This record gives sequence, structure tokens and C-alpha cells, in this order.
Amino acid sequence: MRNLIISAILLLASLAQPNSVTRTVAAEQMLGNATEGLRFARDHCADCHQVEPGEAPAVIPAGKSFIKVAADPKMTALSLRVFLRTPHIDMPDFKLTEEQTDDVIAYILSLK
Ligand code: HEC
Repeated sequence: MRNLIISAILLLASLAQPNSVTRTVAAEQMLGNATEGLRFARDHCADCHQVEPGEAPAVIPAGKSFIKVAADPKMTALSLRVFLRTPHIDMPDFKLTEEQTDDVIAYILSLK
């Protein structure tokens, strides 16, 4: 009987695990406002990145289009955050506030 209870608890715990991971990821992705992120990206990123689907490639086509960035399975909210926290190539004053970072991440991930 005791073993049965222990197995039931272990089973429940293993069922709960993937759920809580999914919930954490979903919660992280929902932090920002994708509409604000798009607005910000149009103003600050579009010189070097294609920001929206169907848009002409960037004037300086050095950065990847955000559609390609979103399609990369390695690009999660966390890896985007790390990237956006480090200095950007040719952009010495590349500093986003917490809110701008969240918004841009929400926008890029909305392209997935
Ligand atoms: C002056 C041009 C320029 C501007 C403006 C610019 N970027 Fe970039 N970005 C680059 C270049 C060049 C790379 C590729 C080299 C690198 O990884 O640093 C890049 C890489 C990236 C990557 C990583 C892509 C990958 O798959 O490795 C992300 C994400 C990104 N930029 C986001 C942004 C965001 C968000 C903005 C606006 C807030 C922005 N960039 C503005 C030039 C720019």
C-alpha cells in the first residue's frame, strides 16, 4: 500500500514537471508587449534587420531578418535577453531598458 502511494506521488510529480516548465516559458514570453516591441523595432532595428514579414530587406543587410531570428529554435526569450543585454555590433550605445527588452522579445517571439 505504501509503495503504491509513493508511486502515485512520483507519477503525479513527473506529470507536473513538464507542465510547470511550459508554464514558466509561456509566462516569460508573455512579459512584454509585442505591439510596443514592433513599434520600437521599427524605430531602432530596421536599419539593419528586416523587422516585419513581407517588408523589404534592411538598408544595411548585416543583421538577420527577425523572421529568421524567430525561426531559430535556439532563440528563446532567455537567449534573446542575453543577446540584447550584450553590446551589439557597430552599436556602442545599444542599451535597451528592461521594458523595451521585454517588448522586443515579445515581438520577435510572436513571429515564431
Ligand atoms: C547598426 C546595425 C544594427 C542595428 C540598428 C541593430 N542590429 Fe541587431 N544585429 C546587427 C548585426 C550586424 C548582427 C549580427 C552580428 C551580431 O551577432 O552581433 C545583429 C544580430 C542581432 C541578433 C542576433 C541574431 C542571431 O541569430 O544571432 C538579434 C536578436 C538582434 N540583432 C536584435 C536587434 C534588435 C532587437 C535591434 C533593435 C533594438 C537591433 N538588433 C538593431 C546589426 C544591427
